[in-house]
Amino acid sequence: MRAMTEAKKLYVKTYGCQMNVYDSERMAETLGAQGYVQVDTPEAADMILLNTCHIREKAAEKLYSDLGRLRPLHDAKPELKIGVAGCVAQAEGGEIMRRMPIVDLVVGPQTYHRLPAMMEAVERGETALDTEFPEEDKFAHLPKGRGTNRGPAAFLTVQEGCDKFCSFCVVPYTRGAEVSRPAERLLREARDLVERGVREITLLGQNVNAYHGPGPQGGEWGLARLVRELAEIDGLDRIRYTTSHPNDMEDDLIAAHGDCAKLMPYLHLPVQSGSDRILKAMNRKHTAECYLRLIERIRAARPDLVLSGDFIVGFPGETAADFEATLDLVRSVGYGSAYSFKYSPRPGTPAAEREQVDAAEADERLQRLQALVTDQQRATQQGMVGRRLQVLFEKSGRMAGQITGKSDYLHAVHVDGPESLLGDIAAVEIVGSNTNSLAGRLLA
Ligand code: 5AD
Ligand code: SF4
Repeated sequence: MRAMTEAKKLYVKTYGCQMNVYDSERMAETLGAQGYVQVDTPEAADMILLNTCHIREKAAEKLYSDLGRLRPLHDAKPELKIGVAGCVAQAEGGEIMRRMPIVDLVVGPQTYHRLPAMMEAVERGETALDTEFPEEDKFAHLPKGRGTNRGPAAFLTVQEGCDKFCSFCVVPYTRGAEVSRPAERLLREARDLVERGVREITLLGQNVNAYHGPGPQGGEWGLARLVRELAEIDGLDRIRYTTSHPNDMEDDLIAAHGDCAKLMPYLHLPVQSGSDRILKAMNRKHTAECYLRLIERIRAARPDLVLSGDFIVGFPGETAADFEATLDLVRSVGYGSAYSFKYSPRPGTPAAEREQVDAAEADERLQRLQALVTDQQRATQQGMVGRRLQVLFEKSGRMAGQITGKSDYLHAVHVDGPESLLGDIAAVEIVGSNTNSLAGRLLA
């Protein structure tokens, strides 16, 4: 066992989605068991781990340029170890080490439980590469504790991978087939988190509402059952889940939004486009009308639900009329927030081979959509002013004397208040709305 004074220093940089945030945490924990402590800058590190994302834009190029930027650091300190994890690691594999010899380790999202053995090789001066999709469940091989988790809100990966094969998306290739973790392990992990002071858990999965994990007494649990059982844990006050597919929004999950008080009134439910022609080309297997009817049903269960979504503009073949249909859909839903992206061809996905929309045209559409979404976001936030909301305080604010937390609706809320409230839920009156946050006043 290494003495404390000799602790090796690990710097982790996370790109992309919340699942990567969760994975980074677990990788840091795994390496923690090998004597690595986390530091906040690459300069202070003995080992740098880049946990990459491949979903959009020039992911591989971005990785190579970030690695290029690490080269002087490596030149100055040749014993520095550099690892690449995540979806670009999965997609590029050994190519990364061929192009960037400063890289010692490449590990895909499904094999990071094997990091200890890989690190031993790296520490011996060898390189290590593992981008398999192994039979065993990596979660079963990771350390049990959640030592690196800080703060009262935590992520919990319940499901990984995707079988939907939307024609634009790289996830089914980088994360593999859909797999759900056994319910009992999730309940145990959630209880551990709560014992460490966690009050809010966000269940994660690329297709989280398709969750169908083995239940403790045999049979299968869907996401609604899992949410309801988690809601029984004393001390756990808030449950969220992300990201969902409209076609997996089952009746029992919709019902849970109406009658499970701990399930928060915020739902991220991407539709991607409002044009049926484009939805078909995207292989989404639902129409715009299906989505709108689904939203009506969820809102009937939970009228104050704040909705969020993802949109892609400039998908191959998207005409001006298709794009107008997307704007119409956004107008009829009224989103509390939404993420819109310009289509980015992902190598190996079907849509990448198709004729691309003119880039300037796609840019203009993106700006129009974002302007509409920003208006809706502003209106939703403005609608909170004057309301009394429950806020879970997570950290100190940027200004002295300020603390920051999240409302049930996932809005960031700043108030003047004591740090002793961090980790607690308190009632707040919303007094103002800024671009990306709300200002509140603590109620007695
Ligand atoms: N181009 C642009 N956006 C994409 N997304 C996924 N793949 C692509 C792509 N190739 C978006 C989708 C998805 C979100 C996570 O990223 O909107 O819901
Ligand atoms: Fe990608 Fe989501 Fe479609 Fe799966 S459902 S292919 S993760 S966009």
